[in-house]
Amino acid sequence: MRIDVLTLFPDMFQMPLSYSILKRAQEQNIVEIVLSNIRDFATDSYRKVDDKPYGGGPGMVMMPGPVFDCFEHIRPQASEPGRVILLTPQGQTLTQEKAVQFSAEPRLILIAGRYEGFDERIRTGLGAEQISIGDYVLSGGELAAMVLIDAVVRLLPGALGDETGAADDSFCDGLLEYPQYTRPEMFRNMKVPDILLSGDHGKIAAWRNEQRLERTKQWRPELYEKYVKGQAQNDK
Ligand code: ADE
Repeated sequence: MRIDVLTLFPDMFQMPLSYSILKRAQEQNIVEIVLSNIRDFATDSYRKVDDKPYGGGPGMVMMPGPVFDCFEHIRPQASEPGRVILLTPQGQTLTQEKAVQFSAEPRLILIAGRYEGFDERIRTGLGAEQISIGDYVLSGGELAAMVLIDAVVRLLPGALGDETGAADDSFCDGLLEYPQYTRPEMFRNMKVPDILLSGDHGKIAAWRNEQRLERTKQWRPELYEKYVKGQAQNDK
């Protein structure tokens, strides 16, 4: 997979991309992440990329010119046109389901905005879909783009090393994960549940399943409702 990121702050991406799974996935050519600085495509001597909104109002708006020029520069660098995604709090919320969909694409082109927003023609002219990482406002789309990249890349075949890893994740079937324990057996008077030490794999699997249901019901009742409804559909 190739992921292009169009941003005013490419350096912000260096740290998260240079550790652990994201680092390894790039080294193993599972993903190629190409950062482009929108400011390199500014046309005036001040390297201006934003301007006052027509019609008045506070703040600055990202101008379409530099974003279009940057986009047109990177698009022919790979044969696939790519799925174009604007990171904005106005977008649809990123879910595990969407991350799975994105992970099946050969190419994503992410556009991270700063300032008060994008000139509307960036969205319409580039045929971009909009994605938000949650109902809160960040100072820009960069952190959101990094969240999306992380959620997507770890789903790519080979990225986790352990192929069963992603299938066990919270949300992959709509339930939270079961509780995990490791050594020591007794820690500060808190004991590992006996069942996990029993060696009875059938009982352990049943216990873990119960725990997943119980925790989802208690902590994320809305996910639990959705899961139960889905199960009822499956049983029909
Ligand atoms: N830019 C600012 N806030 C954002 C959010 N919540 N999601 C995606 N992009 C953003």
